[in-house]
Amino acid sequence: MVLTRMRDLFAVLTPADEEWELALTIDPARLPAHIAIIMDGNGRWARMRSLPRVAGHKAGIEPVRAVVETCARMGLGYLTLYAFSVENWKRPRTEVETLWRLLRYYLKIELPRLLRNNIRLNVIGRIEALPASAQDDLEQAIQATSHNSGLQVNLAINYGGRAELVDAVNRLIDKARLEGTTEDLRLDEEMLASQLYTAGQPDPDLLIRTSGEMRISNFLLWQIAYAELYVTETFWPDFKRIDLLRAVAEYQKRDRRFGGLTPAASTNSEELVAEVLGVPAP
Ligand code: IPE
Ligand code: IPE
Ligand code: MG
Repeated sequence: MVLTRMRDLFAVLTPADEEWELALTIDPARLPAHIAIIMDGNGRWARMRSLPRVAGHKAGIEPVRAVVETCARMGLGYLTLYAFSVENWKRPRTEVETLWRLLRYYLKIELPRLLRNNIRLNVIGRIEALPASAQDDLEQAIQATSHNSGLQVNLAINYGGRAELVDAVNRLIDKARLEGTTEDLRLDEEMLASQLYTAGQPDPDLLIRTSGEMRISNFLLWQIAYAELYVTETFWPDFKRIDLLRAVAEYQKRDRRFGGLTPAASTNSEELVAEVLGVPAP
């Protein structure tokens, strides 16, 4: 399995160019199991070109295609893309409606490619609030790709990290009511994680945000507890395959400790500790 990772990527790279050299530095055995991306900066990209904001959203489709394809070619398991937050309803109605139109357009043109590349589409968020036409198209694409076994792409749409946690707790309450166990209901981390929209998936190892904003904006609050954060100044419509490779290469340089210590740092003997503290070893 590990050996076949990255192989499909090299098939589309040009030997010895910058992307190729960068890809060579990536260790196929230590790829992130799950990458999550906050696709931000569409509006600013458009403003820089004196275009309406929706032109930025339209230009944001190509990087989605590139990133999905690259992750599939790298042999990654999961990719989560933040497309619309529960707070994005605050935007002008015309902008929001354009986003639903673009979503439907994306699904229509991309479905054949998703099928060809063995990609499974999934949605996370309260999609019942979307226009019926967008919901129908989403459900159709999810259904059509449900038997695929390659990369899983989670589109986060009308997604909020807090909303997800509230939904998870409410589901646990409903379940307990049905089972008549409400009186003794106590939660633990495993129970809560089992009711998240991403239940059963590994937590993201790498969280990428474009456009330079140093914030989480209500994305995957539970799941990113130990994700490595990577922020690039690049606006989403300008994000290319090479930018994804840069993020993965940088991720592999990080020292992930999960609150523990790296082996080299944990060699303090009891004698040394006693000497530093000035008290005898027990
Ligand atoms: C991200 O780009 C796309 C969505 C939130 C739908 P923005 O629309 O937030 O672009 P900026 O941040 O205003 O530049
Ligand atoms: C986060 O971007 C949501 C998406 C990328 C879909 P926003 O542009 O909505 O976030 P803020 O408002 O800058 O925090
Ligand atoms: Mg933004």
